[in-house]
Amino acid sequence: MKYGYFNDKNREYVITNPRTPWPWINYLGNEDFFSLISNSGGGYSFYKDAKFRRLTRYRYNNVPMDDGGKYFYIKDGETIWSPGWKPCRTELDEYECRHGMNYTVISGEKNGIKTSVLYFVPLNTWAEVQKLTISNNSGEKRKIQLFSFVEWCLWNAAADMENFQRNFSTGEVEIADSVVYHKTEYKERRNHYAFYSVNAPVQGFDTDRESFFGLYNGFDHPQTVFDGKPRNSVAHGWSPIASHYIELELNPGESKDLVFVLGYIENSEEEKWESKGVINKRKAREIIDRFDTSQKVDSALDELRNYWDNLLSIFTVDSGDEKLDRIVNIWNQYQCMITFCFSRSASFFESGIGRGMGFRDSNQDLIGFVHQIPGRARERILDIASTQFQDGGCYHQYQPLTKRGNNDIGGGFNDDPLWLILGTTSYIKETGDFGILDEMVAFDNDMSVARTLFDHLTVSFDHVVNNLGPHGLPLIGRADWNDCLNLNCFSNDPNESFQTTENKSEGSKAESVMIAGLFVAYGRDYADLCRRRGREDEAARALNLVAEMVDTIKKFGWDGEWFIRAYDFFGRKVGSNENEEGKIFIESQGWCTMAGIGSDEGMCKKALDSVKERLDCEQGIVLNNPAFTKYIIEYGEISSYPAGYKENAAVFCHNNPWIMIGETVAGNGDRAWEYYRKICPSYLEEISDLHKTEPYVYGQMIAGKDAFRPGEAKNSWLTGTASWNFYAITQFILGIRPDYDGLIVDPCIPGSWKGFKVVRKFRNAVYNIEVLNPNGKSKGITELVVDGERQSSNVIPVFGDNREHSVKVIL
Ligand code: GLC
Ligand code: GLC
Repeated sequence: MKYGYFNDKNREYVITNPRTPWPWINYLGNEDFFSLISNSGGGYSFYKDAKFRRLTRYRYNNVPMDDGGKYFYIKDGETIWSPGWKPCRTELDEYECRHGMNYTVISGEKNGIKTSVLYFVPLNTWAEVQKLTISNNSGEKRKIQLFSFVEWCLWNAAADMENFQRNFSTGEVEIADSVVYHKTEYKERRNHYAFYSVNAPVQGFDTDRESFFGLYNGFDHPQTVFDGKPRNSVAHGWSPIASHYIELELNPGESKDLVFVLGYIENSEEEKWESKGVINKRKAREIIDRFDTSQKVDSALDELRNYWDNLLSIFTVDSGDEKLDRIVNIWNQYQCMITFCFSRSASFFESGIGRGMGFRDSNQDLIGFVHQIPGRARERILDIASTQFQDGGCYHQYQPLTKRGNNDIGGGFNDDPLWLILGTTSYIKETGDFGILDEMVAFDNDMSVARTLFDHLTVSFDHVVNNLGPHGLPLIGRADWNDCLNLNCFSNDPNESFQTTENKSEGSKAESVMIAGLFVAYGRDYADLCRRRGREDEAARALNLVAEMVDTIKKFGWDGEWFIRAYDFFGRKVGSNENEEGKIFIESQGWCTMAGIGSDEGMCKKALDSVKERLDCEQGIVLNNPAFTKYIIEYGEISSYPAGYKENAAVFCHNNPWIMIGETVAGNGDRAWEYYRKICPSYLEEISDLHKTEPYVYGQMIAGKDAFRPGEAKNSWLTGTASWNFYAITQFILGIRPDYDGLIVDPCIPGSWKGFKVVRKFRNAVYNIEVLNPNGKSKGITELVVDGERQSSNVIPVFGDNREHSVKVIL
């Protein structure tokens, strides 16, 4: 069953039934000020950091689902309703939610009154703008009472949910004109306040939650709204809110617009106050003035649309398959941008207070958005690298507000450093900017020990070399990419974290074949980079070490039919036919086949066939098989999950593209495509009931064949799945791959495809690429013609001439 439809022309998903199987959300803002918004108006806002600068409250995992948001209540006689259906849940005559690129429009109609709210964060603005249009579609004159509503969060979202003995006494507001200002803690250590305005006179307001709702009422039953009477309450402590009350009279056919602005202001110490105890509102008034008419709001929305037109014009495919085109051209690229902004911090599955930016996550995310915003990718790489330690290890996470490593989790995840090589080389391949390698970058944020970014890559590479285990394979540390394979943590205490408990790391012997594969892949990239920098000796050293690793993997990492996953603390095989459960894992098959390890000896082919046979199922490729059915203390968290979920044999979508790419390296276009299609959300729209999460974005996991309910997805939006699938489809299946000297064209497609077209903007030129497949091949180019000239290789040269170039490719 579907709950809406794609409107590709407008780049929107249009939800027509508010009772989606899970809140289907969108993100507003793409720079400093952000909001999450569900299809019924739920969600919250924050400035930069969802933990430290939370503006409004949201209630995770509440009953009813999705409570807390930017709500509007309409009182029309005795009928009380909300345009997004929630929170009132009054049955609407019409309902529609249009999620677009960084904007959302929610509309409801009841008894001839239609209310439509456009929500977005204008470019370069620390505010969310809401344009509410209310229309009288009935034949008679109508009087309507309108109440807005937001609930302030007391800034630190974690403290806001626990320190009530303090919180209930600190809340402070000011009310002036039609604006509610939230200034809790402003007089002490904070230099910021928030405000909520409307561009019309109000006939009343509320700023105290209890006065607005009545103590025991829910969001669906604010007493003021039911009474049709605001209380003009002024919050002192407890829970401050902001609600405007507006009386409207509408003639038949008449429409009125109101513009609400929810903004965030920072003032320096000298300009904090207007007078004693009265905050300086100058900057707030400036923002309010920028959006005080509908025309101004509409032109800000146009700017946002242009911004997205631009971003999405860099890579477009015309494949003749609308499901593929819409995911590649619109939604997957959009999701990549969202992962850039939020890493794994704030979604409807990530509470915004848990994790900041992940070291490995952010580097992998980069491969999905570097073509769109190379300048910001550059900055991101330098930020990430600054949280590295001098020995090449690194903080696993950092906070976006402070850009400092997160001490609660620390380091010791031994795959982390290698991803910096992926992030950096992807950036240089896209832009040609080798200069980034000369940037001086701190270690652990300490500039006194700064070295060049190139040196950071060297220590990343050497961190593996310096941390080899008894078989000569890389030591796994706390975990590699799979956070739940905790081979050096023996935990019997439910109060310990699997990730940070290291009761066996002293003299640890657990080794990772996945890191070994990663080392081969990115070690070669590192060597390539060394050569391009004229560092032949270093390149040779690196290649020798890589060659040794290849031998080691063939010797100790091969199980006969597939690559083993790891060696546990005691040196026993993990992911081997010898094991009872967890005989085969996806990660090492992905990394070793992508790197082509043992391809001459037939290892890659065997490994990929084993994946097909043992891990593939209707929902995608599961992470391991057989799933673990009992807790194995030597393995840790992975065996804590019920079979078929998360890292224990779910289709963990992030790693499926590794196999897709492995298949393209082996030339199997049909299989690569089959795997791609299985987990791609636009192909799952019809089964939304089962799939549950948004059909326009990837989720982290889909319950696998061993699960109680296979096919159910979770953790939508913030996942490496977004960038890896974009990378797999565009660079390996469609095969348009940026490289140092140009654009490589190397498709690997199903034999039945007749061809496709791609427009790619690359280093200041536009390439109109047409791929034809007259002979039903999967891979291998017969002819490449650029601007009428036949090329001798499959690399399209860099022109950089701001012109369009025609590229014809025959497989
Ligand atoms: C989560 C984490 C990521 C990890 C993956 C597998 O997605 O964000 O860092 O690699 O799970 O455990
Ligand atoms: C849990 C999750 C994993 C995530 C990790 C982050 O282990 O299963 O996906 O990466 O938490 O700490």
